Amino acid sequence: MKVAIVGATGLVGKKIFEQLKDKNIELVLYASKRSKGKEICGQKVKVLSILSVKKVDFAIFSAGSEVSKKYAFFFAKRGAIVIDNSSAFRQDENIPLVVPEINFEKVSNKTKIIANPNCSTIQIVLVLFYLSQIAKIKRVVISTYQSASGAGEKGIFDLENETTLKIAQVLKDDLVPQIGNFANNGYSEEENKMIFEIQKILGKKINITATAVRVPIHFCHGASVNVEFEEQFNLQDVFDKLENAKGVVLCDNLDKNIYPLCKNAVQNKNVFVGRIRRDFSVESGLNFWVVADNLYKGASTNAIQIMQEIINQGAKK
Ligand code: A2P
Repeated sequence: MKVAIVGATGLVGKKIFEQLKDKNIELVLYASKRSKGKEICGQKVKVLSILSVKKVDFAIFSAGSEVSKKYAFFFAKRGAIVIDNSSAFRQDENIPLVVPEINFEKVSNKTKIIANPNCSTIQIVLVLFYLSQIAKIKRVVISTYQSASGAGEKGIFDLENETTLKIAQVLKDDLVPQIGNFANNGYSEEENKMIFEIQKILGKKINITATAVRVPIHFCHGASVNVEFEEQFNLQDVFDKLENAKGVVLCDNLDKNIYPLCKNAVQNKNVFVGRIRRDFSVESGLNFWVVADNLYKGASTNAIQIMQEIINQGAKK
């Protein structure tokens, strides 16, 4: 089997490479002309161009939405299933936006392009999906605490060098309530993405509001999530559900000061949830804290799981 990694020299691309390199897969690595002559673990990186597009079984894109918009169809036309980490196709109603634990059934044997959701969306929607099996969700209030690596290599550079190449303000010693440009509705791009994507994945018109904040750490995103249900729920059912939920690690023991931390979630493929408690300010509400590695389940791992699921289900011709 042949898999192209587009954006192989980037933060997410490197994680995809690491997770696939020892499998029985031929990897074709692509980046921009800036990476001409570069090698990753002794393997040459190709400069992406229409002419350099090879026939592969899967192409995993992580090079930003402009690159995806320009090249995804070329790979698809040559027979690849494209799994795209950018925001290029997420809002397209004909393109499935997939978290495999939730809605893999959206992928059919005719699907050519699959969108991988935004990193914050994935970790939050996974928990909301399991909660929605307990009681109907009416409203969700999200506050995120997102690491510099969410802005790619340049984001890490900004954090370490006090520059603003990718992050709107100098991040060192600060909390920046802006991720992406602001839209006309007063929300940042990241906030609008989360709201739209959670609704698309859950297939429900839940009321959602969000505030996304960049924090001065390297890896992992945290989110405080407040959920209001339409009906009563049993708190123990929440613990039982999340204890047994695929892709989730329940991390909640107040007596021992145990709750999700970035240092435990880093380089881990799961989503860590804790600080689970009732919100006593409404009739039926719940608060939780969720942490995941944005470069793993938030990006590379979710994309690889989609590919793996397609292979397992024989959906790939
Ligand atoms: P390059 O390293 O050659 O710039 P990150 O999000 O961590 O910054 O990574 C972005 C990834 O997308 C890098 O691998 C980068 O390659 C790649 N990339 C950016 N622009 C292009 C392009 N026009 N064609 C191919 N790859 C690109």
